[in-house]
Amino acid sequence: MKTIFSGIQPSGTLTIGNYLGAMKHFVELQDENNCYFCIVDEHAITVPQDRLKLRDNIRSLAALYLASGIDPNKSTLFIQSEVSAHTQLGWMMQSISYIGELERMTQFKDKASGKEGVSSSLLTYPPLMAADILLYKTDIVPVGDDQKQHLELTRNLAQRFNNKFNDIFTIPEISIPKVGARIMSLQEPTKKMSKSDENLKASIFMLDDEKTIEKKVKSAVTDSEGIVKFDKENKPGISNLLTIHASCTGESIEALEAKYEGKGYGDFKQDTANVVIQTLRPVQERYHELITSTELDDILDNGADKAAFTANKMLAKAKKAMGLGRVKKKK
Ligand code: TYM
Repeated sequence: MKTIFSGIQPSGTLTIGNYLGAMKHFVELQDENNCYFCIVDEHAITVPQDRLKLRDNIRSLAALYLASGIDPNKSTLFIQSEVSAHTQLGWMMQSISYIGELERMTQFKDKASGKEGVSSSLLTYPPLMAADILLYKTDIVPVGDDQKQHLELTRNLAQRFNNKFNDIFTIPEISIPKVGARIMSLQEPTKKMSKSDENLKASIFMLDDEKTIEKKVKSAVTDSEGIVKFDKENKPGISNLLTIHASCTGESIEALEAKYEGKGYGDFKQDTANVVIQTLRPVQERYHELITSTELDDILDNGADKAAFTANKMLAKAKKAMGLGRVKKKK
């Protein structure tokens, strides 16, 4: 049995990118593994958040995890800020991180570029992410492609800590899906689809209604060639829709190319909208039941207790390895 850890930021409504790149795969892992899934609210505050919206997003993300099939009897689902070991170990990981390596993170560069008043936590976000993972002796971290660099840094920090202090951390492996690891914007298909994109037409949100999904897929930017073929360089829009379609149905890209040979983009887009709607419908139905229930609070309370039990043990080991705190004298 392996230990799995992954986290999602409650920084807006999740997109189909978050679902196909990450969340969908969490469900497949929970039968055979010891899984921790986290709502990483402390990561979300690295950029400004509206207090009430953040609270709503946290609850909504918890409900989405469950609605997508996370079973609290099999997996531990919890909120990062409710387990204080995360920020405590995060601080310790910061102290062994170099400013230079943090400044090289592409996500930091993207989010900070051209902005004034960038928070220092945006820079020190990756050591907190490392702490999230390392607290649980995680073997595998299932994520989308954009988290590769953060995972590489996590592995480096774990190794650095183990060499310098004591060999306590498991070095985690990254797991990225073969199809769907980077779903692109529907409006600018050379850019990643993101929860925080200001152009609402660029992303399909997991809670979008059927009409909205259909409209967004139909107005997705494509080329004028009229051939449904995967070619990321020359046909990024169609390639993205093929990826979305294939991830939703489990068909291969080649099978879809064959299916739509000789047909125009109209049919292909309509069918793609339909498969997205069919994929999201059961998740949305369960979501609406859960969001108003008290069941959700019980699950999160339990999850925080379970996570803290494991995390505090690792935190104590890390403190001891670094020489923090004291050893009590025998009376
Ligand atoms: P976040 O909240 O940006 O995204 C959550 C997950 O969704 C994946 N993802 C995508 N996959 C495919 N196509 C896309 N367009 C797309 N956009 C997002 C992400 O790769 C991620 O798996 N730093 C993380 C949160 C985090 C975390 C962790 C993850 C904090 N601590 C520990 C794993 C382990 C983040 O910002 O994800």
